[in-house]
Amino acid sequence: MSNVRLDVNFCRGFFPPLANGEAYLENAGGSYAPRHVIEAIEAYMRECQCQPSWRFAASRSARERLDRSQSLIAEAINADRDEIVIGPSTTLNVYVLAHALAPLLERGSEIVVTNQDHEANGGAWRRLAERGVVVREWRVDPLSGDLDLEALDALLGPRTRLVCFPHVSNIVGSLNDARAITARAHAVGAMVCIDGVATVAHQLPDMKSLDADFYLFSTYKMYGPHLAVLYAKREHMEAASNQNHFFHEGNVPEKLHPGGLSYESAASIAGIVDYLEAVHAHHFDAEDNDLRARLAKVYGLFQTQESSLMARVLDYLAGRTDIRLIGRDTSDATRRAPTFSVTVAGRDPGDVAARLAERGVCVGHGHFYAYRCVDALGIDPARGVLRFSMVHYNTLEEVDRLTAAMDAIA
Ligand SMILES: Cc1ncc(COP(=O)(O)O)c(C=O)c1O
Repeated sequence: MSNVRLDVNFCRGFFPPLANGEAYLENAGGSYAPRHVIEAIEAYMRECQCQPSWRFAASRSARERLDRSQSLIAEAINADRDEIVIGPSTTLNVYVLAHALAPLLERGSEIVVTNQDHEANGGAWRRLAERGVVVREWRVDPLSGDLDLEALDALLGPRTRLVCFPHVSNIVGSLNDARAITARAHAVGAMVCIDGVATVAHQLPDMKSLDADFYLFSTYKMYGPHLAVLYAKREHMEAASNQNHFFHEGNVPEKLHPGGLSYESAASIAGIVDYLEAVHAHHFDAEDNDLRARLAKVYGLFQTQESSLMARVLDYLAGRTDIRLIGRDTSDATRRAPTFSVTVAGRDPGDVAARLAERGVCVGHGHFYAYRCVDALGIDPARGVLRFSMVHYNTLEEVDRLTAAMDAIA
């Protein structure tokens, strides 16, 4: 265990909006981007905003920048570069994936979806019922919001082909044991599709050790641009039906990527890794040759910082009996992310959010597209929850500003 602590001010210096005087606690909606990302977009547009891959210099440079993003983000999650697709959003990536897998799912085969998920990893799968696929719902405990592994066992069987679940819920904040769920699904011959969108700011997933079949995340929740990554195991990428033009049949990963995307944004994904590398270089000697080892150290620092923020929040909530905390009462970063949803007795979440905004505290409210989850927790989705969510660049002072503002408007 290293004694090195995250130099939060060093990190904050890379994120221009953090200097605006507000306490930004809506990171689960979208984290801010560091200069590395912003400058990569600008440089792309200034120097090579042309069709990539032609022979002239600007076009070659565009291709190199896009390839660098693809390779770095793949390596960061321990995947090969042709096992990932960079697409416009996770919602659209799941939509394409569901269409690509549909022909492989015979009538009467079964899939499992949860009511903990953001609708992105639910709606497109549930619609397969129209093609005769049987959809089974793995339901959260209405009090804790947790998904119980034994309840999953009751849903699995020889006809199960796919289990879809969130690595971290964007409402409940709990980390699901993705490895255990995957092992159970694999034991009955089913694949897994994991939504990692609410995970990647806090933990860097490892595709090989998770043994994930499909894993999705959005780069704008991990300090990058508004794009998303779909990982698919090579064998599934090959078996999936082509969603691109006919002449891309057999082309991996192009077959899962119909249409183009914002190249300038895609080129800036490398900036996420460049930022993480800068954090590594600031805190550690350059003895690690392996990118993943360096990133693991950086995320270790992030988690320690996030644990202390969580402990501060939980201390405060323990004294507020009028506030219901959704999810686990723990600051253990292996069990929960610093994404806190609450309801305040007798108060409308939108109204509380507006009053916090008046005090320079930025939070979100509503159902955050996890409509079914909020509903299952016994909360009216039309009102939803109040959500404050931190990442490593947040400070204890910002948490104190939130709690003082909560007290002031109580
Ligand atoms: C857990 C989770 N999954 C999926 C999504 C959807 O991602 P995108 O906006 O890239 O479609 C979100 C967005 O808030 C999310 O929080």
